[in-house]
Amino acid sequence: MTTADTAIISSPAIRWFNKRLELLDQRALPHQTLWLPLSNADGVADAIRDMVVRGAPAIGISAAYGVVLAAMELGVNANQASLKPAIDLLAASRPTAVNLFWALERMQSVISEQTGLALIASLTAEAEAIHRDDREMNHRLAEFGAALFGKSNLGVSLIPEGKSVYTHCNTGALATGGHGTALGIIRSAWESKKIVGVYAGETRPWMQGARLTSWELMQDDIPVTLVVDSAAGHVMKSGKIGAVIVGADRITANGDAANKIGTYNLAVLAKHHGIAFIVAAPLSTLDPDLADGSLIDIEERNADEVRTVQGKPIAPTDVPVFNPAFDVTPAELISAIVTEHGVIEQPDTAKMAAHLRSAGVIA
Ligand code: MRU
Repeated sequence: MTTADTAIISSPAIRWFNKRLELLDQRALPHQTLWLPLSNADGVADAIRDMVVRGAPAIGISAAYGVVLAAMELGVNANQASLKPAIDLLAASRPTAVNLFWALERMQSVISEQTGLALIASLTAEAEAIHRDDREMNHRLAEFGAALFGKSNLGVSLIPEGKSVYTHCNTGALATGGHGTALGIIRSAWESKKIVGVYAGETRPWMQGARLTSWELMQDDIPVTLVVDSAAGHVMKSGKIGAVIVGADRITANGDAANKIGTYNLAVLAKHHGIAFIVAAPLSTLDPDLADGSLIDIEERNADEVRTVQGKPIAPTDVPVFNPAFDVTPAELISAIVTEHGVIEQPDTAKMAAHLRSAGVIA
């Protein structure tokens, strides 16, 4: 029997109990609420790969708990060497979101000389901190983002108040430790009456916009209109959109941003229509080790995700498919990147480095 009230930390998609992790199976949403109990790192790696849990920050949090579960299984034998296979397995689950590697590095940094029960206690504290901190960071990020409405120096004339925003994929409480990144800004902008609603692109092939974003927004009574991805240009042309706000899976040293496939199309369309294009991401999504977006490993997923819709074939069963899960938006198309540390307007390498330095991420 699993109940939320005995969880030590609980966010909308991730519950941590003392020796068990539970992930909300996001593949079943919004029509079914299934919690998947996990007691080892293999199960967590499978859950990340198979999209039970998704969204860059949520993947990182889950992987951190995966390391704790691996250490718990090893018990007194837990140490740097014995944990390596589990960490490698988790690192191989999805390649693009840097938060996964960031979280695993944080977990590795506490291993040092400790072993056994002391190590398990330290790893548990670290994973819980990663989980807790994420929600708090999202709230800070959201306030910075919401404050952009009404500003006029983002390389576009204005982010007007009183219009709708367009978003892609799901960047909300389900994709994070709570509140959300792009969706966090949208929540805060709605609360402060700066927007009148949200257009959500359905986000083929996993339909995160249709299944998750529209559901999250409806639960909060934020007016949402679902559109097929190919309606984005038509919607932007209508004049109803004040800004496009999306998340990111990895942002390189020059400000290029990898995010769900289709994001780049939106950035090009936003540029054409003079609409601000905002990328919201915690500092843990910034990857100063990669000079630019051409170096990002873009995950390619199974062809059947495109040939079928919810298990039903919609194309010839053997048609060749190209199924990249992410694309890269060049920095020059981004009006601003918002983190929990503030706003980087019209990002470039120098501004990214200054932001990371003042946040204490790099020396
Ligand atoms: O394949 P997914 O659903 O993990 O992709 C998610 C996205 O692209 C999100 O925009 C990104 O991870 C940011 S979530 C706060």
